[in-house]
Amino acid sequence: MSSLVFVKGFLFCHVFMPAVFSFSKSAIGSIDHGFGKHDGGTLFIEHVHFVLDVEPEISVSTYDKIMCAFKCLHQSFCLSFNYDARSPGNNSCELLSKNKYTLSERFQPSQFFNHYSLMSPCENGPCKKGAKCNPLYGSNGYYCERSPGSIEQGSPWIKLNKNVVCFGAKNDAFGNFTVTSHGTILTMRLVYISGFVTCNNRTVPYGSHWACKKGSRIATIVTSAAKNVIFPEDYKNKSYSLVGYHANSSELVFPPRSKPLKVTNGEEYQIWYNEDFVNGEEFNNGGQTCVNVYALYES
Ligand SMILES: *[C@@H]1O[C@H](CO)[C@@H](O)[C@H](O)[C@H]1NC(C)=O
Ligand SMILES: *[C@@H]1O[C@H](CO)[C@@H](O)[C@H](O)[C@H]1NC(C)=O
Ligand SMILES: *[C@@H]1O[C@H](CO)[C@@H](O)[C@H](O)[C@H]1NC(C)=O
Ligand SMILES: *[C@@H]1O[C@H](CO)[C@@H](O)[C@H](O)[C@H]1NC(C)=O
Ligand SMILES: *[C@@H]1O[C@H](CO)[C@@H](O)[C@H](O)[C@H]1NC(C)=O
Repeated sequence: MSSLVFVKGFLFCHVFMPAVFSFSKSAIGSIDHGFGKHDGGTLFIEHVHFVLDVEPEISVSTYDKIMCAFKCLHQSFCLSFNYDARSPGNNSCELLSKNKYTLSERFQPSQFFNHYSLMSPCENGPCKKGAKCNPLYGSNGYYCERSPGSIEQGSPWIKLNKNVVCFGAKNDAFGNFTVTSHGTILTMRLVYISGFVTCNNRTVPYGSHWACKKGSRIATIVTSAAKNVIFPEDYKNKSYSLVGYHANSSELVFPPRSKPLKVTNGEEYQIWYNEDFVNGEEFNNGGQTCVNVYALYES
């Protein structure tokens, strides 16, 4: 493993050929990964002669690994990439929605590929043996879990809802749940159970889990009963991108709040579809998504 590759968030490339690749923030202003709040930028780490052996979301031809890194930065799902340095320009750039920390068994030596992963505290192996480190992208955080994606006993995630929570996309069809243990919540995790929502009811029943349609930005938010938005913390009354997740992800994990949330027993919280929340163009929305809600409490 060699050192850093890329600076993200403030969007200056320090490492390779900075003269050619010094982008200004506005040049790639469409990126909204919310990185760099804590550490002043995020880096890719280069793993020479390694590959993360998973199906790429997108394979593209790029001139070199730097252009591949920029492709990755432009896709909110992208957490890492493989680059085949043998044949630049021949679908050599594989953009991945997975990371090597949660799929370590797929992280393998490779004759031809190098692997690049977004910098994370998981790189330092902070979890106990047998537990996997899950990066919390968008902050400098992580959590440890025995089997990622399945929230079993002993997991740091506390289930908040008693009954499955369902939310629709119009006519104030929010879903709600009541917190049963008081404390300070760092972040929430919405785990998909069933259904679809959409901003165009012609796609019903197959819209998406969290957004409008394929490729749309995420439109699912969590609010207090008084309709203050809790997650995402920097919500701006618009759909938004969430690093590592897409419209049909099996779950959403929000970046931890910079101001953790104090909750008390019996307090109600709500899950809303963005357009329904802001009373936007919701007349042709449709569908309903059902979820379980988990929280990571400050210990
Ligand atoms: C591009 O990739 C294809 C499939 O892997 C291979 O058959 C072909 O020879 C490659 N071309 C170049 C120019 O490397
Ligand atoms: C959800 O909201 C409805 C209507 O405001 C209310 O009657 C119900 O008690 C709430 N349920 C929970 C679990 O908070
Ligand atoms: C989401 O998944 C369903 C099937 O589970 C599919 O029909 C739909 O097209 C997918 N939507 C997106 C946005 O990928
Ligand atoms: C977001 O929408 C709410 C409710 O419509 C409104 O009170 C608030 O001012 C809006 N905030 C922004 C940043 O537009
Ligand atoms: C779908 O949206 C149209 C408006 O575009 C509306 O007239 C119709 O009632 C909606 N259908 C359903 C089932 O919500």
